[in-house]
Amino acid sequence: MKTLQVQLGERSYPIYIGSGLLDQAGLLAQHIKSKQVLVVTNETIAPLYLDKILKNLAGYSVETVILPDGEQFKTLDFVNKIFDKLLSSKFSRNATLIALGGGVIGDMGGFAAACYQRGIAFVQIPTTLLAQVDSSVGGKTGVNHPLGKNMIGAFYQPQAVLADADVLDTLDDRQLSAGLAEVIKYGLISDVEFFEWLELNIDALLTRDKQALAFAIERSCINKAQVVAEDETETGVRATLNLGHTFGHAIETGMGYGAYLHGEAVAIGTCQAADLSRRKGWLNDNDVDRIITLFKKARLPVLPPEELDADRFIELMAVDKKNVDGQIRLILLKHIGEATLPVSVPRELLELTLKHYARE
Ligand code: NAD
Ligand code: GLY
Repeated sequence: MKTLQVQLGERSYPIYIGSGLLDQAGLLAQHIKSKQVLVVTNETIAPLYLDKILKNLAGYSVETVILPDGEQFKTLDFVNKIFDKLLSSKFSRNATLIALGGGVIGDMGGFAAACYQRGIAFVQIPTTLLAQVDSSVGGKTGVNHPLGKNMIGAFYQPQAVLADADVLDTLDDRQLSAGLAEVIKYGLISDVEFFEWLELNIDALLTRDKQALAFAIERSCINKAQVVAEDETETGVRATLNLGHTFGHAIETGMGYGAYLHGEAVAIGTCQAADLSRRKGWLNDNDVDRIITLFKKARLPVLPPEELDADRFIELMAVDKKNVDGQIRLILLKHIGEATLPVSVPRELLELTLKHYARE
């Protein structure tokens, strides 16, 4: 097992990465401060892993909430189901919430923990590659709104993250690829060596080589933990983690939550951001080719949906947390391995990317 630390002063916490972590009762227990524990998961993950967690919690007073599965349920209405259970079970302020699932459950569980009685402890047990390399680390929690992705939420850090690589055995190939989109992101924004490693090892990751996956999870978490430690509430460098996300969120909202997986939308959005970075004169044709090739090899889509024309894209992109005074601001790439902070781009240039990207 590897242990990384997210350094946030008195709110610092460990990320445990390894195999068989869900079978180590003591690991979870040391981060639970009182008898009352609520496990939040969904109807797909519950039959696979809930029993393992409950076994580790013998002796605690445990309740569970099993939500429906899907991005379309990442709403305030379904977070309310968590509050219903916490209240009807008379959970007090020293209770602990465990979020067992992918990014959807982690974001919702974390948000419920942030709000219930103004904050109870929570532990992240991420079960998708995407959640293990990104969403479980860093304390962004929240839900979607019909008008914008992740627009309602809070920064709220967990007590610990337990990333057990064994749970990825049951993840389907499409979800594995979606997670790789965020893995590739770290290489692009700040870790050119990792990007080069990914170019060489993408097939090993797709065939679920355990060593390759363990390396990719650890390297991603090291990158993420560093950025979060530097800028917890995204006043600066943390925004770089949003590479491709403004385009990607527009795709998710515009096409209806769940039509594209988050990682798929991010892959397309990152290719669009790369195209725009080339138009700004920062990336060259070869860089853009390398980026698109890696996403394609990871079996991710690289072309935006035809249903969204440039005007609709721009309308959707206008709802984004990086925007200031109504101006769309994007993370772009200076080089492979170096992202910009949020930049405004002239509308004509953005339209060129939206109209012509990958159809030239
Ligand atoms: P997800 O949570 O919907 O999980 C994907 C699918 O895999 C679901 O059907 C789920 O039930 C299933 N699943 C989960 N674990 C499984 C397992 N071990 N075996 C079999 N099936 C399993 O999607 P995701 O990709 O994990 O997360 C996407 C969400 O994360 C989006 O809502 C996105 O906005 C959010 N996100 C948040 C952050 C953050 O910093 N908080 C970062 C990135 C993404
Ligand atoms: N996934 C973006 C962030 O954590 O900031």
